Amino acid sequence: VSVQPLRVGVIGAGTVGREVIRAFLDRSPRLAPPDGAPLLLTAVAEKFTERAIASGIPESLLTDAPAHMIASGDVDIVVETMGGAEPARTLISAALSTGKSVVTANKHVIAHFGPELERLARETGATLRFEAAVGGGIPLLGPIALDLAANRISRVRGIVNGTTNFILTAMAREGRDYAEVLAEAQARGYAEADPTADVEGLDALNKLVILARLAFGAWIEPAAVGNRPGMTTGAQGAPGITGVTAGDVASLAAEGRILRLIATTRLAEDGAIEASVVPTAVPAGSSFGRCDGVLNRVEVDGVPVGRVAFEGPGAGGPAAAAAVLSDLVAIARGVGSTWAGLPAAVERSALAVRPVAAECVAAPSGACYPVGD
Ligand code: HSE
Repeated sequence: VSVQPLRVGVIGAGTVGREVIRAFLDRSPRLAPPDGAPLLLTAVAEKFTERAIASGIPESLLTDAPAHMIASGDVDIVVETMGGAEPARTLISAALSTGKSVVTANKHVIAHFGPELERLARETGATLRFEAAVGGGIPLLGPIALDLAANRISRVRGIVNGTTNFILTAMAREGRDYAEVLAEAQARGYAEADPTADVEGLDALNKLVILARLAFGAWIEPAAVGNRPGMTTGAQGAPGITGVTAGDVASLAAEGRILRLIATTRLAEDGAIEASVVPTAVPAGSSFGRCDGVLNRVEVDGVPVGRVAFEGPGAGGPAAAAAVLSDLVAIARGVGSTWAGLPAAVERSALAVRPVAAECVAAPSGACYPVGD
């Protein structure tokens, strides 16, 4: 019996979309899982059509009208790799409303509009998968939602932004300048279109919201997640890694420590969820300290499993495309949404969220960085 192929339409042929499209154009046999329907690329929606054609995308696949592509009966699965808030959110909603499956790499949209998108997908029975939104190419959300589902998870913490880890590594190991390394991270396709989201910790914070949804069954409000270290004066420091100076890096190195932007979410005994994204001083020889460059590392603590760690390429087109492709294969196999099998999420309003408390170490800039292990 021949199985009807699932027709895939990609919206956005940028850093990630281009790599997804390339996998289809190379006719990877891995996109025809033996236990599911074969996947077929039938449309690409891209604003800059000339640039897309120049990059080798056949003109016959291209359109500059993504809403039309979704509304037409020509695609079964919509892959959203355009990024940003709008029109991505509206396009994802439109696809889910008509019962189409969606695969997205968009951490901003999932973190900020997760509750409404989850409700909509559950109502229409549509599938929404977003493995590429957290941890780049690391299989992370699937294992948390599925393989670790029988555990009571108490904490998830990790390095979840490749750009800032690349910057902190180059500053500490090579004494390089912040601005120069950021430019390199942008050139390598690690940073967001506006790298403010990376360096201010907002991208990591979005990813933490998504991790908390799968680990604790609740969508926390992104604005409730702290993203600033304290100052020795008692004031709040600059967001994310924007206040980190060469002097801070050197003085911590003298004590055998290195800064890592660590995102942590924890279930407190009173039922509140603690969540923070802060540059954290960890021992240079620890697992987080040795997690260099664009790598991400996430540790999940649970009962009865203990601690499970995930590490791998956290940013860049090929890494994110690998996660998008694995979501497509999961849909072809009928696995369902990323949260499949978990109960519907608790309403945001029902939750107490507060920052994670930790001891801190004073640095020359006046920042007091939490101490990690
Ligand atoms: N800008 C993101 C990062 C891309 O640097 O981690 C991957 O989500």
